[in-house]
Parts: sequence; structure tokens; C-alpha cells
Amino acid sequence: MLPTRLRKNIGIRNLVRETQLSMNDVVYPLFVVDGQGIRREIGAMKDQYHLSLDMLGAEILALKELGIRYVILFGVPDEKDGEATPAFAENGLVQEAIRIIKKTDPGMYIITDVCLCEYKSDGHCCFFEDDGDIKRGKTLETLSKTALSHAEAGADMVAPSDMMDGRIGHMRETLDRAGYESIPIMAYSAKYASSFYGPFREAANSAPAFGDRKSYQMDPANSKEALKEIMLDIDEGADIVMVKPAMPYLDIIAQGKELSYLPMAAYQVSGEYAMIRTAVDNGLMDSRVIFESLLSIKRAGADIIITYFAKELQAMLKDYQ
Ligand code: PBG
Repeated sequence: MLPTRLRKNIGIRNLVRETQLSMNDVVYPLFVVDGQGIRREIGAMKDQYHLSLDMLGAEILALKELGIRYVILFGVPDEKDGEATPAFAENGLVQEAIRIIKKTDPGMYIITDVCLCEYKSDGHCCFFEDDGDIKRGKTLETLSKTALSHAEAGADMVAPSDMMDGRIGHMRETLDRAGYESIPIMAYSAKYASSFYGPFREAANSAPAFGDRKSYQMDPANSKEALKEIMLDIDEGADIVMVKPAMPYLDIIAQGKELSYLPMAAYQVSGEYAMIRTAVDNGLMDSRVIFESLLSIKRAGADIIITYFAKELQAMLKDYQ
């Protein structure tokens, strides 16, 4: 057996390729901010922008031009408060952004990140009891209220990223009771307490004011725990499960995919982006490494990849196959 027979030229390589990427695999994250006329590059994430609502329409048309059909929205309001009120306000940033995007390009599929850390003064994803325990009832109520406000504004799918126990079931019930049975939930199921989120915390202004997220996000040392989290979310009614970050956790993506027939998503996070971007921009690696990184995530088992490189994929698909 000579395996090189099937590598001899582009024709045969194309014929036997096992994994193909397409524009239907990628979701692009957008950060919406207060203010007017703002399209400001995020310091730690070159080529990624903070956008005010009035700049969103033009951005959406540009994304359409680049073949992007799926976005995930993050709101970064100027004013946060102890109750995370801007998260579920009827005219909040994400809620307004949804309306603008749907008006600009009704075919753009809108996923919303559902969490409290970008809206709550202490930058945490939950409320706490005096003794430091997670105040679960109030946290779940607030998360579900936020998801519902996104559905009411016209979101196509909600994606809770908080890692609170029981939030998928609570959210499913809240959405169903309000008549949003057809809105899917993509659960950030295995979300690790990762240092790879560093640049995002600048992007979302969501670094915790005290402590860290280790009491609710997962320990990077654990894999069985990830499978437990995924199973629980499936039990509670998740439609899609997610592993995050992606590249340092390809083993979790692969194992998680084996657990069920649900679609698996993976989030190639800000630190993964910054690392690759910096290396490519400084000539340390060829830009094909971007394509290879996405391919590896898909090959591991991801059906959906949230990535800051989505804007470059259409051109790469033409050049790199
Ligand atoms: C909010 C949230 C985070 C990310 C997505 N949703 C940050 C965090 O948990 O600290 C990270 C995304 C990225 O790093 O690109 N909970």
C-alpha cells in the first residue's frame, strides 16, 4: 500500500479530501456599543471592531459581500448596573441591533450571546449570595428574561454562555411559555475557565471586578466533566451544544460529538485569534495557518465554528483548496 498514490496531484487530493469547509460552517461575532459614528478597532483584536448601532447596517452589508450568513451578537453598553438591567432592556443594544440587522438583511441569521457579565457592574455572569455562593434562582430568572427579550426583538437563536446549572431547562421553559417554541438554544455546554478569553474581556469590557470565573466555568484539566455538562444540557433541551475554546480543546470536541446526534459548535476564541493573527502579521507563519486552524476544528467534529476569521474564509476557500 502506497498512501502517496492518493496525494500525487490536486485532482486526486480533492477527490479523497475528508473535511471541507464552507461559508455555512462559520459564525461571525459582532460587538455593539453605545454612541454614534463608532467603528473602533479593538486594541487586542486587530481587524475586529466596536460598532455603534448607526454603523451596523453598513457592516452587515459588508459581511454579506464576504459571504457571511451567521452572526453572534455581543452588547457592550457604557452603563452597567448591579441588576444587569441593560441585558434585558426592550431597547437595549442587542435588542436594537437585532432589529437593525433584520431590516438591513432579513436573511442574516442572528444568534445572540446570553450572559450577564457585559451588563453587570461587577463583570460576573451571575448574582451571588452574601457568603459567595451563586444565587441561582435570580440568576436563572435574569438570564431567561434576557433570552426572551432577544427572541422578542427577532433573534433567530439564543446562546447562553454563563455556565449556570439548570439554565438551559429554565430558558427553554421561559421561551416556550412565551410562544417562542421555534427558537433553538445553542448551549455553551463545555466552557472552560480559560486564559484564552483575555482579548475578549477588553472587547466586551467584562473582566470580573473581583475574583475569577473558576466557580462556574470549567477546570481546563477535566474532560469527563465536559461530557457531563454536555449530557445535562442535552437533557434540559439544548438543540446545539458547544465547546469553548476550540483549538486547545479539540479532544473535547471529538468526545462530545460522539455523545449524541446533536450538532456540535466550537468557539475559536479571542486568544486563539490574537495568537494566530499576530504570528501571521509578523511573518512567522503563512496565512494558510488560519485555514488549517478552522479545518482542524471541523475535522475534530465541529459542525459550526464561531470565529473572528470568518471574514477571510470566502477568499481562502477560493485560494487554498
Ligand atoms: C461571556 C463570554 C465570554 C466569551 C464569550 N462569551 C468571555 C468570558 O466568559 O469571560 C469569550 C469569547 C472570546 O474570548 O472570544 N460570558
